[in-house]
Amino acid sequence: MASKYTLFLLLLLHFRSATCDQEQTNIIKLGFSLSPTNHPTSWLSPSGRFAFGFYQNGNGFSVGIWMMGEIENTTTWTANRDDPPVPSTAKLELTMDGKLLLRTDSKNSKPIASVRESASYAAMNDSGNFILYNKDHRVIWDSFSFPTDTLMGGQSLSRGAALFSSVSKSNRSTGRFRLEMQYDGNLVLYPIHTPNISVDAYWASDTSNMWSEKNLDLHLNSTGALLLINITDSTVDDKLNDGSLAFNNSIIFNGFYENKTTPLWSKPDDKCSVKSFCGFNSYCTLDDDQPVCRCLPGTDFIDTDQTSRGCERNFTEEWCRDSGRSASSRNIVRMENMAWDDPPYFQVKMQEDDCSKSCLEDCDCHVALLDSDTYCKKQKLPLKYARRDRQTSSTAFFKVGFEGVKKKQTGVNTSEEPPTVIIRTRDATVLLLVVTLGLVTWSFIALAISGLFAFKLRFLEYRKLLDRGDIGLSEELALRSFSYKELKRATNGFKEELGKGSFGAVYKGSLSRGKRIIAVKRLEKVINEGEREFCAEMRVIGRTHHKNLVRLLGYCAEGTKRLLVYEFMSNGSLADLLFRSQRRPDWNERVRIALEIAKGILYLHEECDAPIIHCDIKPQNILMDDFWTAKISDFGLAKLLMPDQTRTFTGTDVYSYGIMLLEIVCCRRSMEVNVQRPEEIVLSSWIYKHFEARELEKLVWGEEIEKKSLENLIKVGLWCIQDEPALRPSMKCVVMMLEGITDIAVPPCPTAASS
Ligand SMILES: *[C@@H]1O[C@H](CO)[C@@H](O)[C@H](O)[C@H]1NC(C)=O
Ligand SMILES: *[C@@H]1O[C@H](CO)[C@@H](O)[C@H](O)[C@H]1NC(C)=O
Ligand SMILES: *[C@@H]1O[C@H](CO)[C@@H](O)[C@H](O)[C@H]1NC(C)=O
Ligand SMILES: *[C@@H]1O[C@H](CO)[C@@H](O)[C@H](O)[C@H]1NC(C)=O
Ligand SMILES: *[C@@H]1O[C@H](CO)[C@@H](O)[C@H](O)[C@H]1NC(C)=O
Ligand SMILES: *[C@@H]1O[C@H](CO)[C@@H](O)[C@H](O)[C@H]1NC(C)=O
Ligand SMILES: *[C@@H]1O[C@H](CO)[C@@H](O)[C@H](O)[C@H]1NC(C)=O
Ligand SMILES: *[C@@H]1O[C@H](CO)[C@@H](O)[C@H](O)[C@H]1NC(C)=O
Ligand SMILES: *[C@@H]1O[C@H](CO)[C@@H](O)[C@H](O)[C@H]1NC(C)=O
Ligand SMILES: *[C@@H]1O[C@H](CO)[C@@H](O)[C@H](O)[C@H]1NC(C)=O
Repeated sequence: MASKYTLFLLLLLHFRSATCDQEQTNIIKLGFSLSPTNHPTSWLSPSGRFAFGFYQNGNGFSVGIWMMGEIENTTTWTANRDDPPVPSTAKLELTMDGKLLLRTDSKNSKPIASVRESASYAAMNDSGNFILYNKDHRVIWDSFSFPTDTLMGGQSLSRGAALFSSVSKSNRSTGRFRLEMQYDGNLVLYPIHTPNISVDAYWASDTSNMWSEKNLDLHLNSTGALLLINITDSTVDDKLNDGSLAFNNSIIFNGFYENKTTPLWSKPDDKCSVKSFCGFNSYCTLDDDQPVCRCLPGTDFIDTDQTSRGCERNFTEEWCRDSGRSASSRNIVRMENMAWDDPPYFQVKMQEDDCSKSCLEDCDCHVALLDSDTYCKKQKLPLKYARRDRQTSSTAFFKVGFEGVKKKQTGVNTSEEPPTVIIRTRDATVLLLVVTLGLVTWSFIALAISGLFAFKLRFLEYRKLLDRGDIGLSEELALRSFSYKELKRATNGFKEELGKGSFGAVYKGSLSRGKRIIAVKRLEKVINEGEREFCAEMRVIGRTHHKNLVRLLGYCAEGTKRLLVYEFMSNGSLADLLFRSQRRPDWNERVRIALEIAKGILYLHEECDAPIIHCDIKPQNILMDDFWTAKISDFGLAKLLMPDQTRTFTGTDVYSYGIMLLEIVCCRRSMEVNVQRPEEIVLSSWIYKHFEARELEKLVWGEEIEKKSLENLIKVGLWCIQDEPALRPSMKCVVMMLEGITDIAVPPCPTAASS
């Protein structure tokens, strides 16, 4: 398997056998040249063990050094490794003026060795080193100083340098992994194109603190010990004897190997711990002890012939955004023992079924990971470094799409598309029923297992209440009860759909002969789930009255029909305003909206009869009324708290508020894949980086914003999103900070406490 090769640093050692040890040297004089097809095609070392010259690469030829073998030759170095192979007409020449050149045709040539000084002769050394000498017999260039993916016995990797793996055994272009000899004395394996930070590392020698002296080079000595040596000392050999052994298992060769390279030592031991071995949206797992890449549920390989390139989502979420019908054609696939390193865009403590449901309903969510502390971490694609790890006790809920919403293939003749889509849509409806029933069964099991009978009882009580008639409930909540007929008339037969949530569509309607515009939510999903949402909304929002909360005007509970009636919000959601509108709201408007939402949440947490936690604060759930006042909506996941629970649980809303506040500041989503640089993908870490560097103006490029005001909002946001819940402020404190009543301390790095 070619990819296996890229995993390891292959340590080669060459033993000279006594028989071929001759004192002769094969000198390459000025004017000598090689061609890929005419003999000789390479220059040999004195023993004939190593060759420098042309070797076959695909349909063409490349220049490199290889070790002769009976079965195969082992390439140890490649010149200009990322250049395409050259044709058979190419020529390798040590020119009369002392340059080593590769001529592809009469006009074009490229240096193999870039040196200012002219060479007088060259030699292929028996250690595998190709060397250029000047007229004083001094080395002016050697291939050992420019290693590609291999270190030979006697060769060193100097600090600050790196080995880069090859694409495959036959293709020696730069591959996907690198071994850095860091200035801090640590020898580290990283995927290519990652910063030198520990999150991206998958193996390290952990030698950075072994010596106060950091001037260390990696050296493979000629009997095969891998050492870190002190380069400030004059000679290498002296140092070898002082036992500056790099790491414990440094005995590499303990037998005699002729004409064969055998891996004797390899790191890391767990092949699936190699980060980015599997590309985006795929995970690594061991099959017969060989690492293989599998796609995360809901994704397919980008290229089935190259599974390491990763996977892409096999359904589109575009229509989710446009009409809000996210959940109806989606299902959740559950997987245990999954782990990855990407930070979630949303994280709150939740029960299992709430966690999976919350992802199902959220257009942005592809997977929710419920960790052992019951934190529900919602994640967007792309996901990197995913793996299945028996040690991790977490449950992942992946959103998958049915065939009906298959992603349109680019470049496909679309004239045939519409009819197939229609047929598939019908299929999806059939599937939907089956799968939805499956979900309900599952959630009942979950309820029984987790012993939440109290919830069930309470919910049965409500049902009884509703069945008995409306009077009790409406008295308690001061809500108007409507008949189904009345609402059907008000909405003109449920004609104008405003949007669709997981539990049914929302329709526009009017009361009192058109004087009062309303929004009617018809809960039409399976009765139990819908019932729960119905009760939650009634209990929570029916008791509240605040200018920054959407008002529930009434409800209808007739037979199995459940409808909720709200005041109508004419100006859409905050998400539309921030992310989609042509004209982003100006700074003062954004500050006002942020404060209004904060006041709404503060009311829920501290000012109404029983504290309420919303559990789903996000721009999609903030609606704008006629006067562009922000109002919190969608209480389907909200929970009423016992007074003693308040402090611990409200922190989840504070966190989501903080994320949303940063989105308001920058008018962009907390996770955005289509950005210029990878560090911009996660809004919060990008913001913290600029906050630390005191260059906040770069976050709101092209806008005139008073610096103090910008800084204040960002400081509040960063306090709210602290990983450590105890560090997050209360909503009361947030409002006071936003109003300028209290000073705002400098927040620490949001993720510092947990790492
Ligand atoms: C080697 O791999 C690189 C990168 O994948 C590719 O661009 C190049 O065409 C390959 N070369 C050959 C000779 O196959
Ligand atoms: C190894 O290289 C030599 C010299 O170029 C060549 O003659 C020989 O065929 C190669 N051996 C294999 C197994 O490819
Ligand atoms: C060439 O190889 C010999 C032994 O094979 C070694 O002693 C010598 O140091 C090498 N020269 C260079 C410049 O690497
Ligand atoms: C990593 O560190 C090395 C020096 O140790 C440096 O040459 C290299 O550019 C760094 N790479 C990145 C991506 O920062
Ligand atoms: C290589 O290093 C090991 C460990 O330090 C040492 O025992 C051995 O003698 C060294 N070999 C040579 C040729 O110096
Ligand atoms: C490295 O060599 C220098 C110069 O000889 C010496 O001062 C230093 O202590 C050595 N460091 C180690 C770790 O041996
Ligand atoms: C080196 O390895 C041996 C045997 O595996 C072990 O007993 C010893 O503790 C190790 N030493 C260090 C420093 O890791
Ligand atoms: C190793 O290779 C050399 C040169 O290719 C050859 O002369 C020698 O016989 C081989 N030795 C064995 C043990 O195969
Ligand atoms: C997407 O992949 C999942 C498996 O991960 C599969 O169940 C589903 O049917 C696929 N959807 C489409 C639209 O191909
Ligand atoms: C698409 O397919 C139809 C029928 O197969 C064909 O008539 C039409 O020319 C195709 N269009 C394109 C742009 O290829």
